[in-house]
Amino acid sequence: MTRILMVCLGNICRSPLAHGILESKLPSDKFYVDSAGTANYHVGDSPDHRSIAVAKSHGIDIAHQRGRQFKTSDFDTFDYIFTMDDSNYQNVIALARNSRDIAKVKSILEVDDTIKATYVPDPYHGENSDFQNVFRLLDKACQSLSEKLQNTGL
Ligand code: 4NP
Repeated sequence: MTRILMVCLGNICRSPLAHGILESKLPSDKFYVDSAGTANYHVGDSPDHRSIAVAKSHGIDIAHQRGRQFKTSDFDTFDYIFTMDDSNYQNVIALARNSRDIAKVKSILEVDDTIKATYVPDPYHGENSDFQNVFRLLDKACQSLSEKLQNTGL
């Protein structure tokens, strides 16, 4: 089983989408996908209704997900940890215990060379179009990621 964790700040907007999108592209008998936030603001909460809606419009159900905070033991549980922006990356790296932990952490958009954006913008204070943009970026990145995970590796 290969284990992949998606991380953002609140774990209600971006990482639940990344979680649901990647999960939809991988066989569940070989891959386990989860998500977490670096902050504890939304522990136990459902994803933001706008993330639920944009996922649903693409046939992906994320309504059952619940927010949780990233913890140091996630470095032991997961093989790959993907962050949405540089702030998430720095917050995760700050909890790393050694170079092996650090090596597991990558920025999600780095997995696809054709994506020009360098981070997934936080849509929390934005509009529906911002959530659609996040979905589009994450769908492209997760497509490349799912192919790499199943074929050549990362
Ligand atoms: P996320 O968006 O990191 O994509 O889940 C946010 C959600 C909530 C907050 C910040 C970002 N907040 O400050 O509550």
